Amino acid sequence: MSHSEFILETRALTKAFGGLVANSSVSIGFREHQAHAIIGPNGAGKSTFVNLLTGHLPPSAGEVLFKGASIGGLPAHKVTRLGIGRSYQKTNIFPSFTCFENCRLAAQSRLATSMRFLRPASSYKAVSEQAEAALASAGLAGRSGRVAGTMSYGEQRQLEIAMVLATAPEVLVLDEPLAGMGREESEHMVTLLRDLARRYTLILIEHDMDAVFAIADVLSVMVNGTLLESGPVERVRASKAVQDAYLGDGAEAY
Ligand SMILES: Nc1ncnc2c1ncn2[C@@H]1O[C@H](COP(=O)(O)OP(=O)(O)OP(=O)(O)O)[C@@H](O)[C@H]1O
Ligand SMILES: [Mg+2]
Repeated sequence: MSHSEFILETRALTKAFGGLVANSSVSIGFREHQAHAIIGPNGAGKSTFVNLLTGHLPPSAGEVLFKGASIGGLPAHKVTRLGIGRSYQKTNIFPSFTCFENCRLAAQSRLATSMRFLRPASSYKAVSEQAEAALASAGLAGRSGRVAGTMSYGEQRQLEIAMVLATAPEVLVLDEPLAGMGREESEHMVTLLRDLARRYTLILIEHDMDAVFAIADVLSVMVNGTLLESGPVERVRASKAVQDAYLGDGAEAY
């Protein structure tokens, strides 16, 4: 396979739920180490797109390519092991487990195949180190032993990022990481995401336009299951079609 300009790419990706076409022939390319935000009104099909990218839903038609190879229709756990990690729009932690235990479970899901060559003690150490490193990267270095459900909402959302990082991804797909956060928590998360954007390929679904403009290099706009526009943030932001369909008069997101 020749070298593709994209690490991850969709071609004419389509998903129908009965008569409802939630994604209609969506073609987007994601470049390595770019931060690519996807915005669009409620029900535009953003989470469906994430679910198709990460194997949580099979496509009705079209392709998903990772490093040039087709991964459309692979189950989610296999997509995770390839190096595509995702977080969920709704909180997805085990509240009665500690931060460390949550991350260790996530790390195990990725390492299961490679670890069969390691002795149990070594594999336990590798998984534990990966879990601790992920917590540190998500700004939770001191929270390892805290029971997840007893932390603030903002910290729980940081933990979800840590759980994705614990799977050692190359591509991070984050579905509304700022949802439900207060102003201070949001600012903290934006700082974290800007830092992660330097180290990973980031695909960010987000309604908070200040956050999108602070983090993203590239912006795609979805409306009614279709891709309205995709390109450098400033160009897409200035597009007449995007202004009309989504950004209003430029004063508000929606
Ligand atoms: N599993 C499903 N079964 C049937 N319809 C679904 C399913 N998942 C999503 N839909 C429908 O597909 C459309 C797109 O939903 P999706 O959740 O992808 O939108 P979204 O852009 O993520 O919206 P939001 O900003 O509210 O999160 C909606 O009309 C939704 O009701
Ligand atoms: Mg959604």
